[in-house]
Amino acid sequence: MIHDSGIVFLTVFCVKPAGENMKSFEMDYLVLVNKENRIPDHWEENLETVCFINSQGEEVEVEKCAYEHYQKLKEALEKEGILVDLDSAWRSVSLQQEIMDRFCEESGEDYVQRFVAAPGYSEHHTGLALDLYLIIEGNAEYYDEEMTQYAGMWKAIHEKLTDYGFIIRYPEGKESITGYSYEPWHIRYVGSAKTAEEIMRKGLTLEEYLNRLPATDVTPPSM
Ligand code: DAL
Ligand code: ZN
Repeated sequence: MIHDSGIVFLTVFCVKPAGENMKSFEMDYLVLVNKENRIPDHWEENLETVCFINSQGEEVEVEKCAYEHYQKLKEALEKEGILVDLDSAWRSVSLQQEIMDRFCEESGEDYVQRFVAAPGYSEHHTGLALDLYLIIEGNAEYYDEEMTQYAGMWKAIHEKLTDYGFIIRYPEGKESITGYSYEPWHIRYVGSAKTAEEIMRKGLTLEEYLNRLPATDVTPPSM
């Protein structure tokens, strides 16, 4: 499929159904994974995902329902002239380890504390956390530092999230609760527009909504 911008978007190329003996499993779209809460056991074998290739030619895997809603969000944004794609969604524990090691070496411990979850404790293991990137004048704005400068564009994106069941997972000013610095690109599917609307309208984090505030000090280092 070729869009007006000339950028080619490939559609889904694989669907991974949940394990045969796990058909009765019900997805918990409000699952809490953070610095104090690990990915639940057996989550992965119950997860139904779809895979696609992003505009950078990289494979991205997303929980099925989150993917369907992301597609609708993406289409709504395109109508406003905002082009986004997914940099990363589901990640295995071993991939998170690789990411952590790489950032530790390239950007240092403080950066990792602020932006990278420990393996087993990343919301990306759920398949419900999506990292967006921006496509501006045909170029992918991919890196954190490049992306944060487009505050107006993020505002327009964030205003649309709840309609499709997504929230900003690491909002500005909530670092001591989420454990992470502000990430405008990291959105989280919570299962319904109603829930997302309730969380975002009240300016809550998922931790506050679920009444599961951290028991320890999880505040990341400041800039
Ligand atoms: N960037 C988020 C915190 C993660 O690594 O899961
Ligand atoms: Zn993320």
